[in-house]
Amino acid sequence: MKIGVFDSGVGGLSVANAIETALPEHEIIYVTDVEHVPYGTKPAVEILGYVEPILRGLAGQGCEIIVIACNTVSTTLITELRAAIPVPLIAMEPMVKPAAALTKSGVIAVCATPTTLRSARYAWLKETYASGLKIIEPDCSNWSYMIEHKQIDEKQIETSVESAIADGADVIVLACTHYHWIEKEIQQIAAHRAQVIQPEQAVIVELKRQIDAHSSSQAS
Ligand code: DGL
Repeated sequence: MKIGVFDSGVGGLSVANAIETALPEHEIIYVTDVEHVPYGTKPAVEILGYVEPILRGLAGQGCEIIVIACNTVSTTLITELRAAIPVPLIAMEPMVKPAAALTKSGVIAVCATPTTLRSARYAWLKETYASGLKIIEPDCSNWSYMIEHKQIDEKQIETSVESAIADGADVIVLACTHYHWIEKEIQQIAAHRAQVIQPEQAVIVELKRQIDAHSSSQAS
C-alpha cells in the first residue's frame, strides 16, 4: 500500500523513518512544504491554504492513508482536512493523556509550537485529561526553525528543560515532530529526573490498525 506522510519540514522525516522501519512492506511517500516551513508560528487559516493541495496531491498519487506527521496541522485543521481529503488521515497530537497517567509530581511540560499551544484541540486535551495538573509550556517558538536550519542552540534547549524540571516537571512531552531530532539531547539533559515522551510508536500502532481495517474492507 502507498502511505503518504506529510509535515512542514524535517520533523515528519523522523516519523516516516520510523514507519519505514516498522512497516517495510509498504511504500512511503514523504512530502514537506519547504516554501512555507515553519508552520508553528503561522495562523491555522494560512496553513490550511498550503496543506490542503499537498494532501490532495498525495491522495492523487494513490496514497490510501496519509499520516499528518505534524502536531501543528493536526491540532488546528484535522476536521477541515478530513472533510476535504478523500482518504483516511492519521493525526498526531500532544500526548497530554499519557503524560497525565505517567506523572508522579503532578507537573508536566509540553514542548510545542505557538500555533499548537493556541489550538482549541490542545485546550480540550488539557481540560479533559490534565485539569488537576500543572502544565509548563516552555517557549519553543524558534525550535522548529533552528532544527530545520541545523542551527541548534543547545544552551537554549538546556535552559528550557532545566527550568521545566526546576518547576517540578517529571514528564516532558515532545509535541512537535521536529523535536524528535533533539530528543536524545533532551533525554540527556533530563536524565533520571524527567521522562521524555513522543508519539511515533503510537502512530505506528494506529497506522497498522487502519491498514488492517482497510485490507479487510477490500477483501470483503
Ligand atoms: N513538525 C511540526 C509539528 O509537529 C511543525 C513545525 C513547524 O513547522 O513549525 O508541529
